[in-house]
Amino acid sequence: MSNIDTILGEGLAALAATADPVELENVKARYLGKSGALTELLKQLGALPPEEKRTQGAVINQAKQAFEAALNARRDAIASAQLEQQLAAEALDVSLPGRGHGTGGLHPVNLVKERIVALFQSIGFDVAEGPEIESDWYNFEALNIPKDHPARAMQDTFYVEGGEAGQPPVLRTHTSPIQIRYMQDHKPPIKIVAPGRVYRVDSDATHSPMFHQMEGLWIAEGVSFADLKATVTDWLRNFFERDDLQVRFRPSFFPFTEPSAEVDVLGERGWLEVGGCGMVHPNVLRNVGIDPETYSGFAFGFGLDRFAMLYYGVNDLRLFFENDLTFLRQFR
Ligand code: FA5
Ligand code: MG
Repeated sequence: MSNIDTILGEGLAALAATADPVELENVKARYLGKSGALTELLKQLGALPPEEKRTQGAVINQAKQAFEAALNARRDAIASAQLEQQLAAEALDVSLPGRGHGTGGLHPVNLVKERIVALFQSIGFDVAEGPEIESDWYNFEALNIPKDHPARAMQDTFYVEGGEAGQPPVLRTHTSPIQIRYMQDHKPPIKIVAPGRVYRVDSDATHSPMFHQMEGLWIAEGVSFADLKATVTDWLRNFFERDDLQVRFRPSFFPFTEPSAEVDVLGERGWLEVGGCGMVHPNVLRNVGIDPETYSGFAFGFGLDRFAMLYYGVNDLRLFFENDLTFLRQFR
């Protein structure tokens, strides 16, 4: 009798000590399995006299039921503890504010640039690029601007240390050196636009020391000033989505074009110069080995920041470069 109590006591203690389902099944096997402790007790019943068999049988069955009840209770307890643990580990507090990954957006000058480039691509222009640190030759001399030419004063710029004698590296003052680089590498017909950052010693409401231009170049046989006017006027009207947009070609001077013009657009605050243009000077074509007797063409250089000003109605271009997110977010 005390033997049964001892076995049951040990069994219940073993169950209570289990922490996971596998352990639990092992304990169950040790007591209720084929040769488990309680099973063995039942097997021994057969050898007892009938009277004793009955009373002992009842006692052993009671012990077996008590063990089974404890086993089931323990099984439930382990399962719910595991669930509890999983819920805690995967807890999600839906009342917390979101982490809010900002979506970001393109800078207004880039938005305008992409729009302009897409318009030119739609009429067959390729896109070219060039370095922001240029040699004096590419930025000036190849463009028919010799060392002491007064035109250099209009594009005062930042020089960088180094370079060969007489060739101080300069932060390019316009995108026009890309014309030269492209014509050195490609034969006509040439039809490109080339956007990029440029630098000058300038600073006021319509001039920034770092700004953006987009060069255009079309060289082929028989390209005329009429083609230039039509291409530029058409593009401007497409860009501003206004067929009645007032565009003015004002005679001007650039050493690398002849004749030359400045292009003005009539905005809410009057005429604003948006770019320069002209027929590519024969000296420039000769500098890159293109015969000016066979080929002609036009070039233009537009200020992308000025387009952003007109397009979005911003009256001070310095706002674009102050990194004020409240201002910039308006354009996303
Ligand atoms: C040029 O830079 C010539 N390379 C343009 C050109 C190209 C003429 C090809 C002929 C053939 P200009 O210095 O005018 O030209 O500048 C062109 C445009 O850049 C200006 O009309 C203006 O829109 C813009 N721009 C010039 N300086 C600044 C500045 N500091 N800040 C913002 N925009 C500027
Ligand atoms: Mg100008």
